[in-house]
Amino acid sequence: MRVSIVTLFPELFEPLLRTSMIGRATEGPLEVEAVDLRTFGLGKHRSVDDTPYGGGSGMVLRVEPIVAALEAIDERAQAAGKPPAHRVLLTPQGQPFNQATAQALAAEPHVALICGRYEGFDERVRSFVHREVSLGDFVMTGGEVAAMAVIEATSRLLPGVLGNETSSHSESFSDALEGGLEYPQYTRPAEFRGQAVPEVLSSGNHAHVDAWRKARVRERTSARRPDLVRESGGVARKIDVALVHHPVLDRDGGIVTTAMTNLDLHDISRSTVAYGGEALWIVHPIEAQRELARRIQAHWVEGSGKRRIPDRATALERVRVASSLEEVIAELGGRDAIEIWTTAANARDRTVVTYEDARKRLTSPGKRVLLLFGTGWGLAQTLHEEAEVRLEPIAGAPASTYNHLSVRAACAITLDRLIAARPRDKGDR
Ligand SMILES: C[S@@+](CC[C@H](N)C(=O)[O-])C[C@H]1O[C@@H](n2cnc3c(N)ncnc32)[C@H](O)[C@@H]1O
Repeated sequence: MRVSIVTLFPELFEPLLRTSMIGRATEGPLEVEAVDLRTFGLGKHRSVDDTPYGGGSGMVLRVEPIVAALEAIDERAQAAGKPPAHRVLLTPQGQPFNQATAQALAAEPHVALICGRYEGFDERVRSFVHREVSLGDFVMTGGEVAAMAVIEATSRLLPGVLGNETSSHSESFSDALEGGLEYPQYTRPAEFRGQAVPEVLSSGNHAHVDAWRKARVRERTSARRPDLVRESGGVARKIDVALVHHPVLDRDGGIVTTAMTNLDLHDISRSTVAYGGEALWIVHPIEAQRELARRIQAHWVEGSGKRRIPDRATALERVRVASSLEEVIAELGGRDAIEIWTTAANARDRTVVTYEDARKRLTSPGKRVLLLFGTGWGLAQTLHEEAEVRLEPIAGAPASTYNHLSVRAACAITLDRLIAARPRDKGDR
């Protein structure tokens, strides 16, 4: 990963880049250049700032030197066969920097960090950047400390930077801890001034240690940072979504295979991730269609799509492609390891489970749920027959008799009805 810093004080970064983890990273996957904004200043005095239009105290950084610096960075990168920079403006008015931002930036091959000074930037600078990031709700004199924090948090996520002795896998805010705060850690001595290390940690029983740590993560996160507790609506099960292209019905009730659509792949993976689902399985018996799904996924997860819309990669990463439901079931541990739940636009002569009951079912621990959605005119009857839960059809407005929702809309509504926290759940928790 290459990081280009646009700053009036390049010398501030020298000690940082020589020291500790970042120093080591610069010998490996991290390459940092501090670009002196003054070099791009205007006139004999290389001026970079001016007084604000409309009056007011202080000086404002001009747009031309900043844009010239960014363009020079991209030209140099291009000459070296490297990609242009993902441009990040450091400003107290940006999105608060967090672990998810660090992860998104660590996936970029080239990032430019733009450090402000004085009263900030000419507003037009904003139209030349990809994102704005703030270190928090306070105002510093310049963006350099913010840039250092971004470099520090991002570079340790690069492969090979942290040794085995430290790992970013199960730290505070990581998915492994469901975004919560890390459990308490102890080292020797076993007792210090009357405070003993919890016995379970020396028990040698990994299952007990694991359970103790999980409980502490939940306890500590709710007590210190309730805002980090993931709103799952109390869901205690893992949920996978499968979009079935065969066997599905046509308008006359015949069994057919439908074509896969790009729109389904995008929208349903986004809904799946937004509602905490494990994966979206694209089930298609035709290899050419599966290959198309993989190519679309690769474009957004590894290709140029990712540079344009990094958030989309987060959703499409969860897409899995399978030739049949049997293959999905086998991947999930076999028929006994899962419950199949089906959805349909009408109940026909099937017994159905209401959303209220289905929500209750999800709140107690149990088997992983494979939630099926049918393309075309819906899932074949055989799939409903095999299911443990057949969800009631989605009712629209009471007065409407129109029930032709797209599978994308049906999926989003179903997930919301099953999973989204309701005000009552919040009170209960
Ligand atoms: C004094 S600040 C300008 C603040 C600006 N007048 C405002 O009220 O939004 C100067 C520069 O420091 C950097 N800076 C200050 N606080 C920051 C924060 N919380 N996060 C990121 N950058 C910050 C920005 O680059 C900013 O342009």
